[in-house]
Amino acid sequence: MLFDMGQLPADIRYKILTATVTPRPIAWVTTRSRDGIANAAPFSFFNVLGHEPPTVVLGLLRHPQRGLKDTAQNIVEMGEFAVHLVPHQMAEAMNATAVDAPSGIDEIEIAGLETLPAQMISPPLIKGCPVAFECRSLSVHETGPRQIAVIGEIVCAHVAEQFVIDARRGHIDTVNLDLIARMHGSGWYARPRELFQLVRPAPIE
Ligand SMILES: Cc1cc2nc3c(=O)[nH]c(=O)nc-3n(C[C@H](O)[C@H](O)[C@H](O)COP(=O)(O)O)c2cc1C
Repeated sequence: MLFDMGQLPADIRYKILTATVTPRPIAWVTTRSRDGIANAAPFSFFNVLGHEPPTVVLGLLRHPQRGLKDTAQNIVEMGEFAVHLVPHQMAEAMNATAVDAPSGIDEIEIAGLETLPAQMISPPLIKGCPVAFECRSLSVHETGPRQIAVIGEIVCAHVAEQFVIDARRGHIDTVNLDLIARMHGSGWYARPRELFQLVRPAPIE
């Protein structure tokens, strides 16, 4: 079946994209407002874009009534954010921070989370996450009237000691990070357990 994106209502476009582009990694993002208020929320329109420099992208939709979400507003104004990857044991706390709440409500407190100071940016880090990237915004693109894309540079990465196999070689115990990803529909997640390996074809001269 052909879905002509230009002819579809927005909610159907959203469903087709989010039901097919799966599993999506989740960026659990902390930011700080101009007034110093910390904020946390998850975003699955997220990925890494490259490593020279190390970059990530976030797709941030506008709230239908309130305009830019707090995360987006804070990144636009302050230029800094932290991305945490979500282990299975923190799934419920991550979900709690997705609550639709007015600015100034502290989702970090609602979710019962503790934070730690970051090293190079002002937003706090979420305690207990095995991986956190401290990021500075490189550019903000208005990709449509209801969405922006933020590209950020990772200025430093934290990986919990027990998951670092060989720091010099950059070897990480990926499987035991037990990171979850977003699937389709309302509330479905994946916990990647069934893995397989393929050897890359040799270059053709
Ligand atoms: C797993 C998950 C993934 C999400 N991904 C996105 C996303 O990619 N973009 C987006 O705008 N909202 C996304 N949301 C919704 C936001 O987390 C939600 O709107 C949140 O309240 C925004 O918080 P803020 O206003 O504090 O930034 C997602 C929610 C969940 C639970």
